[in-house]
Amino acid sequence: MYNKEQTQQLQQQTISFLKHMNKGIDAPAIDELRSVLRFHEYRYYVMNDPLIADTEYDQLYKALEKIETENPGLIIAGSPTQRVSKGLIKDFPKVQHLVPMLSLDNSYDAADLVDFDRKARELSRLEVMEYCVEPKFDGASISLIYENDLLVRGATRGDGVVGDDITTNIRQIRSVPLSASFSSFGIQQIEVRGEVLMNKNHFKAYNDMLEDQGVARLANPRNAAAGSLRIKDPKEVSRRNLEAFLYHISDVSLLSKHEAPPALQTHSGSLKMLWELGFRSPEKEKKVFKGIAAVVEYCEAFEQQRDGLPYEIDGMVIKVNQLEMQEKLGMTTHHPRWAIAYKFKARQGTSKLKAVEFQVGRTGAVTPVAKIDPVQVGGVTVTSISLHNEEYIKEKNLQLGDTILIERSGDVIPQVVKSFPELRTGSEAIIHFPVSCPVCAYPLEKPQDEAVWRCNNSNNCPAQIVERIIHFNSKDAMDIRGLGDAIVRKFYALDYLKDIPGIYHLPFEAIRKLEGFGEKSVTNMQAAIEASKKQPLHRLIYGLGIRYIGETTAKVLAQEVNHLLDYTHFSVEQLQEMEDVGPKVADSVYRFFHNDQNIQLLQRLEDIGLQLKNEKKELHTSSTLSGQTFLFTGTLNKLKRSEAEATVEENGGTILSGVSSKLNYLVVGEDAGSKFEKAKKIATIKIISEDEFLRMINGAAK
Ligand code: IVH
Repeated sequence: MYNKEQTQQLQQQTISFLKHMNKGIDAPAIDELRSVLRFHEYRYYVMNDPLIADTEYDQLYKALEKIETENPGLIIAGSPTQRVSKGLIKDFPKVQHLVPMLSLDNSYDAADLVDFDRKARELSRLEVMEYCVEPKFDGASISLIYENDLLVRGATRGDGVVGDDITTNIRQIRSVPLSASFSSFGIQQIEVRGEVLMNKNHFKAYNDMLEDQGVARLANPRNAAAGSLRIKDPKEVSRRNLEAFLYHISDVSLLSKHEAPPALQTHSGSLKMLWELGFRSPEKEKKVFKGIAAVVEYCEAFEQQRDGLPYEIDGMVIKVNQLEMQEKLGMTTHHPRWAIAYKFKARQGTSKLKAVEFQVGRTGAVTPVAKIDPVQVGGVTVTSISLHNEEYIKEKNLQLGDTILIERSGDVIPQVVKSFPELRTGSEAIIHFPVSCPVCAYPLEKPQDEAVWRCNNSNNCPAQIVERIIHFNSKDAMDIRGLGDAIVRKFYALDYLKDIPGIYHLPFEAIRKLEGFGEKSVTNMQAAIEASKKQPLHRLIYGLGIRYIGETTAKVLAQEVNHLLDYTHFSVEQLQEMEDVGPKVADSVYRFFHNDQNIQLLQRLEDIGLQLKNEKKELHTSSTLSGQTFLFTGTLNKLKRSEAEATVEENGGTILSGVSSKLNYLVVGEDAGSKFEKAKKIATIKIISEDEFLRMINGAAK
């Protein structure tokens, strides 16, 4: 999509915009600014390899918004700001697809594929068939129409003939271009098919949030993606971080006097064209083969990689590569004869539900956890499985002693698919939900609009205290290594650790005498605890475990004040004015900062030396290098290597250890060697001299 020169030019332009941010960007630069934003959306959402920090993108985006607000006449449909839509969608009108959306025939093993190949060759009278093989994305299928280079319609599959018009929601998916230069291929109108996905990380985070809110988790990312497309609040759709792969062109109308582009002679050519136009097509994942034997091999090899992919796939799709041949083979009433799905082995297994334990989480939520006969599901032995809440047990019709079907998908956490009541022998028993906390015996409560029973004895319930300490230490919060879950439990039981501030007063002399705690591990633990005092404010906020506050909201909260205790003066209304803060979150934050025990906790943490001030506010403006990565090679003349590296870090940049596509700048001194050679081969790396580096820094440091 962007060659080396364009990439370098756009990055240069980006840096120049960012440098002059304080003066604002003038309206005449609007086209350039839009190109820069589209370029970074592409780097982030399609290539998964951003060149600037999120905050820098936000600054540029806000600058564009400002120009457009001041000059409404300059707004165009394809502007990056036009994804956002205010208000709610009333309904999703029905729309007819230009070409019916058929499904695919399935195959399950090599023999099925050999059979498919034989039939395809017989029908087309070919000795050897050429195939294009790509992943079968496990999401919700969509169809997009572009007219005169603009996205004009996005629809769900529906019954295959008529779907729902979900254009506004499709516009929230940042990897779907709002405009694409189809005209450069002589195309006036085109219908493109693909799959909307929620990647595994976002799915897990989304499910964790649902659980936090007392709502049942979703079974798999496919349901999450399909459900998200039907939400009537486009802003919420945007927050779901959906992604899209586009893998099929179903209809094309050419501009007058144009001939069909050569790219469209093959399926692989179509994928390449889509990729070049800025779509996320399976260009990198697909492979073309002659003959079915190599196809089988590729499918089997890809299955091994399945768990390592960031998104869910449930198989591979094998397509006859020549479009002329596809036409010849045609369709049955259900599926094309030129393509077949190769389905991976289901990650399911059956087991017996032996017992149910009730666990208390850090927010007091009581979660039933089933203990089951060990069973292998997709290479992992499952022995216990969350049943989420009381409603879930009823919905799945579960009893102790039942035979159950289990599936692992998406977030790797196994789920119960169903029970088999028909196999009951009469010795099964009803699962009774406790009425009081299984740990502290406090009576459980359940608000009407929630699915979860809770122990509200939050300050005294041992289970909640321990879980809060564990959350505070966790990787995405204060990241205190060496003080893992089991150790926290042990220290709590030994009375060494009774609350969060207690982490900073651990009796290390006594700990050194414990079995299994060597000098080195205790010293490391001490160092990790000490280092955590310097963690930035947003990590502390997240670590406090305030209900509904995930990492993203914690970052928003951290940015808005000079000191965390400033929130004691915020009203619910003021809180709601912040980005991403709705009524539930605002209420939760308000309550947290109006609770004496919480205020005391924060004051104690500040006395210990933790960071409650928002230091980033000052850092922000002087860190033009934030998000940028650097590496030095060869001998520098004016700076020592260590000084140069420190300068990068002081200005918010990062030093990398080697040359990779993650590197933004290679600073080359005298007698540079292999790093220099390697960097020259990666188009996106900017190779600069020591003087250029110094000019950058002097510009950045102000
Ligand atoms: S091609 C006319 N390619 O699988 C054939 N489909 O079970 C158009 N799917 O409805 C479909 N990944 O939603 C194709 N790489 C891929 C796919 C794919 C996922 C879905 C699609 C289709 C379903 C069939």
